[in-house]
Amino acid sequence: MKALIAGGGRGTRLRPITHTQNKHLIPIANKPILYYAIEAAVEAGITEIGIVYNADSLEVPNYVGDGSRWGIKITYIPQEKPGGLGQVVQLAEPFIQKESFIFYLGDNMVVGGVKRFVEDFERQNVNCLLTLSKVKDPERFGVPEIKDGKIVRVEEKPKVPKSQFAVAGIYVYDSHIFEAVKNLRPSNRGELEISDAHQYLIDKGYKVGYTEITGWWKDTGKPSDLLEANRLILDNITPINRGSVDAQSDVAGRVVIEEGARIINSKVRGPAIIGKGCVIENSYIGPFTSIGDRTEIRSSEVEYSIILRECKILSVGIRIESSILGNDVEVVEANGKPRVHRFMIGDQSRVEVA
Ligand code: DAU
Repeated sequence: MKALIAGGGRGTRLRPITHTQNKHLIPIANKPILYYAIEAAVEAGITEIGIVYNADSLEVPNYVGDGSRWGIKITYIPQEKPGGLGQVVQLAEPFIQKESFIFYLGDNMVVGGVKRFVEDFERQNVNCLLTLSKVKDPERFGVPEIKDGKIVRVEEKPKVPKSQFAVAGIYVYDSHIFEAVKNLRPSNRGELEISDAHQYLIDKGYKVGYTEITGWWKDTGKPSDLLEANRLILDNITPINRGSVDAQSDVAGRVVIEEGARIINSKVRGPAIIGKGCVIENSYIGPFTSIGDRTEIRSSEVEYSIILRECKILSVGIRIESSILGNDVEVVEANGKPRVHRFMIGDQSRVEVA
């Protein structure tokens, strides 16, 4: 069994962060989203992973490397333009060859690993196993129609969903999927849709099974999904202090403090993670907050947020909450009169002021 991870696409719904940073490298609990997919495959015993990436940027291959840090081999497959997940599978055929494989969308996160899906695929003896998750907004996803315990139809982002399930971005296939993706035509949005490939398999009489994901699963396509995924991952962290906490500070709950980080006269309420070399001084860090390496927070309050590396949050009067700050962002007190807001914000940013 091999694994194929989709790590291309444009990440338009996560702009402006994705203007300068590949969506799959955005950290959740200070670890790139893509690493969760890789580690799930490794944990399932897979040693050969193919990653499809945008041909116009080597950011993903350069950052992730050849897989040796996990003791596996990663093969990189360039995609010229994001032509859809059907195209991602087409491009991977020379890498996969005749083996069965897990197809994992690099922006999806699931708790509990993927081994169980491989086992279900084998136990059900099917050509394709879809993983389903009950959601409030199925119209955002591929949606199955189920009759007598069988999937009879799969529709991509239907206006009127035929069930409450989303097809999650973790699939297990045998090599018949390559026949399916060769027969795809571009959809209305101009992509080769993976849902159409599933429909092809159903129409041709191949066995398409499914399994329900009962724990949590997230597609981290939107900013609020990132915050929620961050919350869920932080909820399971093991506390450790590799940095320093002075006598005037109060750290409670599950908090990870990385090497060289200093907590000075501050309150930290876990679960939270504070990256290497951070300085937190005269501040409050509330639950579900991830702070990237070398960020400085002084005389400010931050809660339920993802702050990337090398940011400065200095003397901000009102608590920062439900926020995502990119790398090297500054939020500082405006000095002098008149009292004003002063902005220097890139394209497609969003700021809410009180
Ligand atoms: O998350 C589950 C959903 O993922 C499924 O329910 C849908 O059936 C499936 O089509 C897909 O929908 P999305 O609209 O969420 O797909 P998105 O365009 O966000 O791409 C998913 C991942 O694949 C993301 O990590 C980017 C990557 N990708 C996407 C495209 C279109 C590529 O690597 N290449 C591509 O051409």
